[in-house]
Amino acid sequence: MAHVLSDFPSLTAPSDNLLLFEQVAKDIETQGFSIRPGALPPHIADALLHQQLRLNNAKYQGAGIGRGDARINNSFVRTDAICWITGSTDAGRLWLEWANELKNYLNQRLFLGLFSFESHFALYPPGAFYKRHLDSFKGNTNRIISLVTYLNSNWSNTDGGELVLYQDNTDQEGIRVVPLMGTLAIFLSEEFPHEVLPAHRDRYSVAGWFRVNASVADRVDPPR
Ligand code: OGA
Ligand code: MN
Repeated sequence: MAHVLSDFPSLTAPSDNLLLFEQVAKDIETQGFSIRPGALPPHIADALLHQQLRLNNAKYQGAGIGRGDARINNSFVRTDAICWITGSTDAGRLWLEWANELKNYLNQRLFLGLFSFESHFALYPPGAFYKRHLDSFKGNTNRIISLVTYLNSNWSNTDGGELVLYQDNTDQEGIRVVPLMGTLAIFLSEEFPHEVLPAHRDRYSVAGWFRVNASVADRVDPPR
């Protein structure tokens, strides 16, 4: 039987987010991913876009692959430029607060034990791409849920830059997500290979990851 919101009376989030958060939780529970066009509250999407448009080249870094010493700048795999969101701006704080509410909701609803959230702006200039990859490898990292939102109005079918989300390693077709303003793509980091097709114009987005706490003994894993 389908659940309705009142089946979870103890779950709390500001009222305008409750319905969305429940839809996302249900999607994750039933299919492992959630694609929600235009679902990010518009005032947050607008604030993020204006913040990202203010970033000059010096604030971006070439995106890297891997962590710590193993980190390499691999332009064969990805050619986007990124800038981590620290919460030092109003836009950053709005976004991080919203993501934190989503994290709390998913924890209550799906018992995921999500602990922290890290995220960055990403700019894909014309021709930029991110080849098929997983955000997390089983037993290796602690990224549990990936969250991407897009900041492009008037993106047309010929602009490229779609996210393609594959069901598993053998899936060659995938599901295409157009990177339109406010669309949310949320998926289990270890389960869904995905790629970003080459964009034909500047493509603005924010990518983030909910993580579990992987600190062991005296080695504290840094947030990024
Ligand atoms: C990533 C990623 C997808 C997108 O940054 O790991 O897969 O659509 N981004 O921007
Ligand atoms: Mn990814």
